[in-house]
Amino acid sequence: MRFHPLAIVCAGLLAFSSAAHAGDKVWISLGDAALAQLQKHAPTAVAASVRASSTAGDRSTAHSATDAEGVHLVQVDEDDLARLSEAVHTELRRCGGYMYHPTQAEGLATLQRASGAARRLTVAAATRPSYVIDQQAVVTPLLSQVQASHIGQTIVELSSYVNRHYQTTAGVNASDWLKQRWTSLAGGRSDITVEQFSHPNWRQKSVIATIRGTDNPNEVVVLGGHLDSINQAGTGETTRAPGADDDASGVASLTEVFRTLAASGYKPRRTLKFMAYAAEEVGLRGSQEIARSHATAGVNVVGVMQLDMTNYKGSVDDIYIYTDYTDSQQNSFVTNLIRTYLPALRIGTDRCGYGCSDHASWTAQGYAASMPFEAAMDESNPHIHTANDTYANTGSTAEHSLKFARMALAYMVELGSDGAGAADRVETFNGSLARNQTRSFGPFKVAAGGSFKASTTGTGDIDLYVQRNAAPTTSRHDCKSDSSTAVENCSLDIRANGDVYVMLRGYTAGTYSLSVSYRPQ
Ligand code: BES
Ligand code: ZN
Repeated sequence: MRFHPLAIVCAGLLAFSSAAHAGDKVWISLGDAALAQLQKHAPTAVAASVRASSTAGDRSTAHSATDAEGVHLVQVDEDDLARLSEAVHTELRRCGGYMYHPTQAEGLATLQRASGAARRLTVAAATRPSYVIDQQAVVTPLLSQVQASHIGQTIVELSSYVNRHYQTTAGVNASDWLKQRWTSLAGGRSDITVEQFSHPNWRQKSVIATIRGTDNPNEVVVLGGHLDSINQAGTGETTRAPGADDDASGVASLTEVFRTLAASGYKPRRTLKFMAYAAEEVGLRGSQEIARSHATAGVNVVGVMQLDMTNYKGSVDDIYIYTDYTDSQQNSFVTNLIRTYLPALRIGTDRCGYGCSDHASWTAQGYAASMPFEAAMDESNPHIHTANDTYANTGSTAEHSLKFARMALAYMVELGSDGAGAADRVETFNGSLARNQTRSFGPFKVAAGGSFKASTTGTGDIDLYVQRNAAPTTSRHDCKSDSSTAVENCSLDIRANGDVYVMLRGYTAGTYSLSVSYRPQ
């Protein structure tokens, strides 16, 4: 791994140390490498206080062997945190990667939810979407309405606050301003609400805009970024911390998605939520409270996308999909969205190596989260967490962020347009078959409660076979239709979510037009 020649800047532990008083005991969870540093620099603290270990990281089994890292819950005091922060910077040459927990109980709960068995349970509680991309008619015309100039304007306005620190007056005012801005963008629509989420332990509020789903309001899609900023040297009332890239750019990108959808009159089937989290820079604290409140209330969050730093093009590829603390199935879907809607863009992958932004808060609660990022980790914006994280230092243009806003719009519409009770999907396939030739179709991802219908017309004698959860053969099928013409029909009741497969066979040579209709997952 190559590192940027400038000093590595991290909010993490430094930021927290400025918030605590010397001698205070605090709970943090941290990865193996950071724990090793803590052990070295504060051995007594660690020996006495490691309470649990677990495995977090990529939620899928496919990557867990390489991405998994032990996570440990440790009680330390403020002095140890400061030493750890320094050591991680100077010896590991990377950022802290810890998560703050207000109490030991909450730290343990987070670790347990991050562990394998508990994760499977929580994942089962959230609906796994079909990830079918079929909203071109809605998405394509909206993409051209997403404008870099609007994103740039929001970055300028947010970064004009002296700082947006979670404990300063300016940080509070920036939250109030964003709430007003989103309220005016909502344009009085009765299906849109804009609210602030108050956090008990600090002044800055998170901001949440909600477009209520028409058919499946209980299924929720979240697009988030963080509202707060920080100056790593210590942030007071008047310290300059513009945070133009980190993360006015992410909030401005998602604001433009919200503006475009609200202005277009688009009505999602699922509920869409836009979130600007408070207190990310001090240990993902705002998103942690919000994600936990969703999990506690059993909210069916079907997908989360995090936009944190979108406007500095430091690498050759355009959008980097971060593979750790994210969901690999959803990451594949996001990759396919980019290929479908923004085919000129180059896609890369990288990892933070620790829970570096708010997506990790949702992952810890068992939800599917992704983080598309502006660059490779070691080529990302070198100015973050300083007074130099300005719009000017991203070229005073939001062209890079524009790509992320367009991708995020496609994400919100594609996930927002599905869900239980969605209209039946109809797909048609045309072709020809030789005598005794077979052709397979599917799997079609069907939702419980509907029916799956397949029918053919054509020339010659075509036979139709349909089966649930496995490809049919002429001898193994749930439905067969084999009249002496090409006109065939099959219908299956679907009692559980699953896959349906179709096979056609030319009893004689012929042509076919196959039409399937089903309730999608
Ligand atoms: N936007 C950064 C995360 C980031 C920075 C990702 C550089 C990739 C490259 C985020 O705001 C941040 O500063 N996170 C902290 C950790 C967090 C747990 C406080 C960090 O990286 O030190
Ligand atoms: Zn940051």
